[in-house]
Amino acid sequence: MNLPIQSNDIQAVIEADRAHVWHHLIQHKPFETIDPRIMVEGRGMRVWDATGKEHLDAVSGGVWTVNVGYGRESIADAVRDQLVKMNYFANSAGSIPGALFAKKLIEKMPGLSRVYYSNSGSEANEKAFKMIRQISHRHHGGRKYKILYRERDYHGTTLATLSAGGQPERAAQYGPMAPGFVMVPHCLEYRSQYPDAESYGLAAANAIEEVILREGPDTVGGLCLEPITAGGGVITPPEGYWERVQEICAKYNILLHIDEVVCGVGRTGAWFGYQHYGIKPDFVTMAKGVASGYAAISCTVTTEAVFEQFKDDPSDPMSYFRDISTFGGCAAGPAAALENMRIVEDENLIENTQAMGARMMDNLRVLQDKHGVIGDVRGKGLFIGAELVSDRKTREPMEEKRVAAVVADCMAQFVITAATNRSLPGFNNTLCFSPALIATENDIDRITDSVDQALTRVFA
Ligand SMILES: Cc1ncc(COP(=O)(O)O)c(C=O)c1O
Repeated sequence: MNLPIQSNDIQAVIEADRAHVWHHLIQHKPFETIDPRIMVEGRGMRVWDATGKEHLDAVSGGVWTVNVGYGRESIADAVRDQLVKMNYFANSAGSIPGALFAKKLIEKMPGLSRVYYSNSGSEANEKAFKMIRQISHRHHGGRKYKILYRERDYHGTTLATLSAGGQPERAAQYGPMAPGFVMVPHCLEYRSQYPDAESYGLAAANAIEEVILREGPDTVGGLCLEPITAGGGVITPPEGYWERVQEICAKYNILLHIDEVVCGVGRTGAWFGYQHYGIKPDFVTMAKGVASGYAAISCTVTTEAVFEQFKDDPSDPMSYFRDISTFGGCAAGPAAALENMRIVEDENLIENTQAMGARMMDNLRVLQDKHGVIGDVRGKGLFIGAELVSDRKTREPMEEKRVAAVVADCMAQFVITAATNRSLPGFNNTLCFSPALIATENDIDRITDSVDQALTRVFA
């Protein structure tokens, strides 16, 4: 179905956009001759652009965000009601939805107890970095200040989170980076760095210990990892990895920070990605799916043990977490998040994610048998990647522009997919799929059919 668009009005919008909007993550030169894409309306899994064309969205708003789908009136109502009652007060005071959402969230996260609100995934991660640094200053004489991050992981766009980013193309040209962030090797078995290892998972985790020993365990305060790496190529952890990582953190008294900005709130077929692996984190950060993009909200969730370290000495005026996020006090965020969570529960979206994720994985494995360019398919729930190679035997990564051509072909079929891009030199070769958690069998089949056709055309 195409929407009726009033062409005069929309042309004015396009011209205003072209003249004044600086879009994210995109080269603007082409917009001198072609129109920027403007999304006008969304319902369920579908979006309509400024030309009135309908698209099936296989990436939840482009970046793993609109988990409960578009056009949710109940979320809009919850936000509206909250805004007219009490829109904002600095979060040094509480709010009704802030308290209620924190309680509901913590019920899903045994072992954790405190929620710190801010607005973006980057900000939530940076809060955790600051907490780790402050714990180091207050309890370890400032020595345990280093934060480890993993090659291929991404934690955000601010300078501190870019400094903790394992994707060199994201950080290039923005240096110098902040000191005190140290990289550990990735854990993508398909690109194993340890061909002789008996257990890849153990070897990849032991590589973290090597870095800790090299840096000095008394200098390392935190380890920040995605439970399943997203933009770095949809990397599911190898067997045995997380158990060993957890042991290493305990051995060297290192706080474990799990970045659930993409995986959080159902995306992987569990409330949180870390819950698949029995991990006991000290920090969990989340953003995108928390309110599915209906309002800006992110959370840095900690244990009571972490929280206690910020209130143990009320006589010291510097002893508490001296941080504020102005818009962390916007009540629309938790109001939207509460209703978002109700929808996930009442519509059994976690179960649907498991079932539809399994279907998508099966469909992609069938495509892998058919198309030699699919080297590896991996993921969990509705969070799946297909790595393209130019040679299955040597695993030579497919050129980025040919991977982009597959995405463009799907787009021409009115199915919006994505691929890793400008992240890792030579390895921007993974197609990414993250449909909303409401996806039906028909939606999944249409997405994978479009990929089938695109691969056939691009690699004919
Ligand atoms: C794993 C992960 N962490 C953090 C972020 C940063 O989130 P934001 O763009 O909301 O700052 C992203 C964004 O894509 C992400 O994928």
